[in-house]
Amino acid sequence: MAWFASAILFLIAALGLMVAGAAGPAHWENGRALAVVHLFALGWLGQMMLGALLQFAPVLVARPLALPALALPALLMSTLGVLLLAAGFLALDGWEGGILLLEAGPVLLAGAFACGGAMLGGTLVAAGGWRGSEARVVLAGLAGLVLVWASGAGMVLDLTGNGPGQLIEALPLHVAVGVGGWLGLAAFGVSYKLFAMFLLAPDGDSAQRRAGFVLALVALSLVLGGLTAVLTALSARLAVIGVAVAALAAAVLYLADIRRLWTIRRRPQPEVNMQMSRAALAFLVLVCGLLPFAAAWGGRWAEAAVFAALVGWLSTLTLAQMIKIVSFLTWIQYFAPRIGKAKVPVVQDLTNAGAARRWLWLWTLGALCGTMALLAEMPLLFRLASLALLAAAIGLAAEAVAIRRLSHLSPDARPTRVPVILPPLAERRPRNDPMQA
Ligand code: HEM
Repeated sequence: MAWFASAILFLIAALGLMVAGAAGPAHWENGRALAVVHLFALGWLGQMMLGALLQFAPVLVARPLALPALALPALLMSTLGVLLLAAGFLALDGWEGGILLLEAGPVLLAGAFACGGAMLGGTLVAAGGWRGSEARVVLAGLAGLVLVWASGAGMVLDLTGNGPGQLIEALPLHVAVGVGGWLGLAAFGVSYKLFAMFLLAPDGDSAQRRAGFVLALVALSLVLGGLTAVLTALSARLAVIGVAVAALAAAVLYLADIRRLWTIRRRPQPEVNMQMSRAALAFLVLVCGLLPFAAAWGGRWAEAAVFAALVGWLSTLTLAQMIKIVSFLTWIQYFAPRIGKAKVPVVQDLTNAGAARRWLWLWTLGALCGTMALLAEMPLLFRLASLALLAAAIGLAAEAVAIRRLSHLSPDARPTRVPVILPPLAERRPRNDPMQA
């Protein structure tokens, strides 16, 4: 919950800056725009993904999380690292003081990712996770995290005048491995499990998944090869095209596998989280359509493809599942201990599905308009789309708080004392809680 809360604050900050015009069509190279991109990609999506993986890695391999004490230092270093990196990018707009922050940001992020990697890698590898169709994709995602950090830190060296000077050529590979290699593969792995759970579909390996995994490894190897080429001042153009082709094929196989899951599901009427995850998957189809143009022509096609991937696919999926995960974990915290001892509400009672659906549709509309505004190079439409995204993000954050406060339950169904957002550290129930058995 703490990871989710921090990530949501980063989301609202990034969108607020977009509404204020800090980033927009053909306006991504300056420091403010780079700050917005990383508050969004690392602060919002990065922390949501790490927080969700810390919750789900034990579920993926039926084994307790390794080194759980590292979770709080990881969250603190990740939060400070993102803030320092984002503020540091303002050095590119002439703020001298930013250089030091730009150098410090990657160091703290390295600490956060190392802690995250130790907990997640430690849990998945110890359980032989590479044999599991979900866990092996998450492990590949962690390799992507190392590559996005390495390429980013290399570019920081160049921007601060401490590098060889050509590392900025790594940018296309950096974006590809950040969006597809880390966030994309982590989303593939988690959604394989979550979708099967929420659709009541039999989970397990498939030909599409095996082929998709091999293509993901090919793409990661091409990124590594391309970064080595950049390091040795050779062109990485071929690697960029290879990565785009492998990523496109892996995405198509993923979509085919999810379509298979959907057709064999046993839950006839999926809930709002799964209904709206279809909008996220539709954005992934749009990204697949834009990718060849982005790889060939760059510019507004690349901006639109990256935006559709980060805001459309990954954020719509994350927001849709966040509502379900928050209600599920809140229900476990308050009501699971009472099963069989007293009347307990069902998980769905904790959520206002209608409100969640409306905010998720507003988000989807904002993401679509934002993508179109980038393609059409219309700054005003882009700011209006950012305003819709901001309103939807605040609406969904308020819904998450209402779920945490059990506000949608009738007073007699609620425990006497409910913490605001974060569960008490020791998860202790208040002693005189009548809900206690
Ligand atoms: C999920 C992780 C990440 C994603 C999706 C991501 C995405 C991006 C994108 C889209 C750009 C181009 C932005 C633009 O041109 O306006 C960019 C540039 C950059 N990123 Fe990241 N990034 C990630 C992580 C990192 C990390 C961890 C670092 C530092 C350690 C970093 C350092 C940089 C730098 C220095 C640039 C600027 C290159 C330039 O001057 O154009 N990024 N990143």
